[in-house]
Amino acid sequence: MSIAKKEYKRVTVKSLVDMKKNGEKISMLTAYDYSMAKIVDAANIDVILVGDSASNVMAGHETTLPITLDQMIYHAASVVRAAKRALIVVDIPFGSYQSDPKEALRSAIRIMKESGAHAVKVEGGVEIKESVKRILHAGIPVMGHLGLTPQSIYKFGTYTVRAKEEEEAKKLLSDAKTLEKLGCFGIVLEKIPADLTKKVSDSLSIPTIGIGGGKHADGQVLVIHDLLGMTHEFNPRFLRRYMSLYDDMSAAIGKYVADVKSKDFPNDDEQY
Ligand code: KIV
Repeated sequence: MSIAKKEYKRVTVKSLVDMKKNGEKISMLTAYDYSMAKIVDAANIDVILVGDSASNVMAGHETTLPITLDQMIYHAASVVRAAKRALIVVDIPFGSYQSDPKEALRSAIRIMKESGAHAVKVEGGVEIKESVKRILHAGIPVMGHLGLTPQSIYKFGTYTVRAKEEEEAKKLLSDAKTLEKLGCFGIVLEKIPADLTKKVSDSLSIPTIGIGGGKHADGQVLVIHDLLGMTHEFNPRFLRRYMSLYDDMSAAIGKYVADVKSKDFPNDDEQY
């Protein structure tokens, strides 16, 4: 029996560090389901993030807080079945890692075992140090997330740019160094000044991935629904839309409704 040759090379956490070393920017996008992940993966994305933004764009919640560990695992397993090349990183949801390191490890293990993903992401710096350490000691790769951390939105009160003041910027840099020292393989920097992103990125050997962090990050991430223009009411300065799917889908669905009502669909060629 011959074994089929794989045409792809899986991106690993080591590939990402190598990309930074070689000056190659890292591309990362969210996906939450099989069909979307298949398209994203086939387009050669380096990293697929099964983000807890699924709470917003898939479930319609106002924040990322309500999504559960079981729901994240469901989304992640669907993405894993689709993606052959990308590294798949999964957010550990709010309430599943903050209370103690043992719970953090249990949550990370459930994600890895039940979804087949390759790494987890957590929000925060020195405050979650023990949890990060515990997960890493179990051999699970961890990505950090600093700056605007949506799981803490009620502490911040707004979604505005973070770390504009010197004290917060200093803490962010120190948190980034702590995460690197612990063994994290990368850090998402969300909505912080471009100069601070540069400072952090220059100080680390692991890659930074920006979302609203400017051009100096080692890679970029966007929520796929935003990039495709499905979320037309969300317009932050950092977002570049590559399509207007909300308008295109609305027009297509409107046309379908009209065709059904007018008895144009199905026609003689579209029946048995
Ligand atoms: O959940 C998510 O989509 C994220 C990105 C915004 C980085 O964490």
